[in-house]
Amino acid sequence: MKICIIGSGYVGLVSGACFSDLGNKVICADKDKVKINKLNNGIVPIYEPGLEELVLKNKKNNRLFFSTDINNSIKQSDIIFICVGTPTKNNKADLKYVFKVVNNIKKNLNKYKIIVTKSTVPVTTGDKLEAMLNSKKNKNKFNVVSNPEFLREGEAIRDFLYPDRVVVGTDSKKANNIMKNLYMPIIKKRSRYFQTSRRAAELIKYASNAFLATKISYINEIANLCEKSDIDIKEVSSGIGLDQRIGERFLRAGPSYGGSCFPKDTRALVTTANRFNTDLSIVKTVIKSNNNRNKLLTSKIEKIMNNNLKNKKITFLGVTFKAGTDDMRESSSLKIIPKLIKKGSLIKYYEPTGYKDEFNKLKNIKYCADINEACKYSDLLIIYTEWNEFKQLNFKNLVKKNNFKIYDMRNLYSPDLMKKKNINYFCIGR
Ligand SMILES: NC(=O)c1ccc[n+]([C@@H]2O[C@H](COP(=O)([O-])OP(=O)(O)OC[C@H]3O[C@@H](n4cnc5c(N)ncnc54)[C@H](O)[C@@H]3O)[C@@H](O)[C@H]2O)c1
Repeated sequence: MKICIIGSGYVGLVSGACFSDLGNKVICADKDKVKINKLNNGIVPIYEPGLEELVLKNKKNNRLFFSTDINNSIKQSDIIFICVGTPTKNNKADLKYVFKVVNNIKKNLNKYKIIVTKSTVPVTTGDKLEAMLNSKKNKNKFNVVSNPEFLREGEAIRDFLYPDRVVVGTDSKKANNIMKNLYMPIIKKRSRYFQTSRRAAELIKYASNAFLATKISYINEIANLCEKSDIDIKEVSSGIGLDQRIGERFLRAGPSYGGSCFPKDTRALVTTANRFNTDLSIVKTVIKSNNNRNKLLTSKIEKIMNNNLKNKKITFLGVTFKAGTDDMRESSSLKIIPKLIKKGSLIKYYEPTGYKDEFNKLKNIKYCADINEACKYSDLLIIYTEWNEFKQLNFKNLVKKNNFKIYDMRNLYSPDLMKKKNINYFCIGR
């Protein structure tokens, strides 16, 4: 099948590379010329494990193409996946990029096409897109299908090729057959193909993200209680997670959740619910709890430093919202670091995916390409993300001075072992 992916970011590029690897001809289109130039020159503009190999292999085999010519890419294709960003504006999903793409599609409907929203879009967006595309000329020439994406950055290729489920929202038999055919190699492997109504598919995505965000906030709050009651959150998480009704994933206490999905999707879901006169009080509380967590962890850092951050050298190991990605969107480091700088701290950071422009406007923050340089003479090391390379560090060798402290926000080390080594170690919920 000829597929066009519009929006070649984290979701679009992974989807395009995987669909082409399954034998389809795929054009990944994007309005960003720099991105497309890089891809045409064999450079993958984002960090995602395994993606570069997959892109290069399928590009070489003439199954994967990159273009800024959106109109022509649409004309040539049978299935159009909309994978552009849907950020929130005033807590509401901003659909301007989606609408722009749909206007492009409207002008280029030269034969029957399936138009698929893979971007996360609020309930009734599919109805709106259908209304936009409807005209006498376009009768029977398209179906609008919702096919939300559940991949996680850092695990994106595995998640795409071995998903727990593929959700397809459509009432059209024809569109459903084509979509099922497209996903057949994946469904055969393991996962379940779940056809539903378009609105239900749209809501399934938001409801899933809100549920996962709730799980994280819940365990973070239980961790707060553990800290006050001399209980180890890791033991509690394991004890809870063994209950199959709950499951052990997403029960690791840490910083507030961030990234390009959970914060914006929880906010957008509340706004959608308001539109339907429904009070999602649980989701609202989760958003509040998550925002409070940034303040809580900043206060904890101050406390660790005896309420004196003036000229204190603080090193962040990792600044992205989690390990395995270069994505800085809504990482809580963007909230915590400026607060520490305001109180007089001198920040250095080591980040496996490199320098981050997001801190450009701040003073007293330095990127170190080498972990030794980042940690040397630090007063406090903050383990902010859970990269493997942070899991077996020799802190004394790295810091090269006495009386440094460690704040392990991912609980990577054993407090007992740190005590034995005479290292001043703090962690989450233990
Ligand atoms: N990142 C994730 O982990 C993830 C997971 C599941 C779902 N989603 C959803 O998928 C969607 C895309 O997310 P992302 O992280 O891939 O975003 P992204 O910002 O990485 O990529 C979006 C791309 O769309 C391009 N674009 C915007 N307008 C365009 C237009 N008119 N024509 C062509 N290209 C255009 C941008 O240049 C950009 O390259 C969002 O709705 C997001 O919520 C993301």
